[in-house]
Amino acid sequence: MDREKKVAVLAGDGIGPEIMAEAVKVLKAAEAAFGFRLKYEYADVGGCAIDCHGHALPPETLALCEASDAILFGAVGGPKWECLPPDQQPERAALLPLRKHFDLFCNLRPSRVFPALVEASPLRPDIVGDGFDILCIRELTSGIYFGRPKGREGQGADERAFDTMSYTRREIERIARKAFEIARLRRKKVTSIDKANVLTTMVLWRQVVTEVSRDYPDVQLNHMYIDNASMQLIRDPHQFDVLLCGNMFGDILSDQCAMMTGSMGLLASASINESNFGLYEPAGGSAPDIAGKGIANPIAQILSAAMMLRHSFGLEAAALAIERAVEETIAAGVLTRDIARDPRKAVGTAQMGDAVASRIRA
Ligand code: NAI
Ligand code: MG
Repeated sequence: MDREKKVAVLAGDGIGPEIMAEAVKVLKAAEAAFGFRLKYEYADVGGCAIDCHGHALPPETLALCEASDAILFGAVGGPKWECLPPDQQPERAALLPLRKHFDLFCNLRPSRVFPALVEASPLRPDIVGDGFDILCIRELTSGIYFGRPKGREGQGADERAFDTMSYTRREIERIARKAFEIARLRRKKVTSIDKANVLTTMVLWRQVVTEVSRDYPDVQLNHMYIDNASMQLIRDPHQFDVLLCGNMFGDILSDQCAMMTGSMGLLASASINESNFGLYEPAGGSAPDIAGKGIANPIAQILSAAMMLRHSFGLEAAALAIERAVEETIAAGVLTRDIARDPRKAVGTAQMGDAVASRIRA
């Protein structure tokens, strides 16, 4: 890494600050072990920012993000702010503007079952095997959720509502390139999800993905219809490495993949843009029911930090080391209450972070 990278740390509300402290602890252990330097700068976001600054994403927080190389995001929201109008709610008023402002079009959702936690998966043991590892890549800023026109018109039985699914060649090309590049860091297999048999948009999708694949001859590409993919995921998750999806299909499949692990508290995510600036966050929320008790599982936040090292900073070895340390910690039976088989033996948030950090130092 050429220079010291700056991380905007937005811990947010509820368990956010608790799990963030452990992610930073683990990052510092990785810095020492791998000889790189990060600079952490903290800012308010979400409900706590509403309380202190009157807005979920204050200008000074946005300015810090702009001056940083990546955002490490905790979680926002809670009962205290649920009475606010929808567009001022912490999640909507903080995350959506960040995604839009930084053009974070590429959403990464890893779905991984650790060998020691195969029992948590709702799938049959012979299907889970010793665990699976799928990365769902979802286009996040276009497709049917944003296409125009959309609206409602007419009355009575003829009243109709409509949305538009639209993708430009440029939009497909950039998400496809990300998928192939990321597949190169993994098992080099991309499954592109579409519905090219009925949707014109998806005919273009398949065509452009195929064209882009010619620049990545070392990566295997296959195409699968969304409905078949949904079945194949349950039948044999091991056949997949990277799933490449448009916005709507990715929304659905990424949740299906998440649920197949059975351990929601372990799921990391990333949203990145063309220059590999990214926002990294756990899939879960602010968990107000357990906030302040020191029992939240920090693993999703720690794995999100590992993704930041990989995708924004190109520190693959350090990212892998964190992921391996997490896997070893879990295999050693160091588990927080949400994943422990015997709650009496569960460890707290800080102990879990300590266990991962000490394995990286070792
Ligand atoms: P949640 O994910 O916060 O909690 C759901 C359940 O999972 C709770 O029982 C919670 O204790 C548990 N849980 C979540 N993360 C955990 C962890 N790291 N360790 C152990 N247990 C964990 O979802 P919920 O209850 O629907 O939302 C709570 C608040 O969080 C709401 O205000 C919601 O708007 C917000 N939220 C924020 C998100 C974000 O910041 N990206 C995402 C989802 C929800
Ligand atoms: Mg969804």
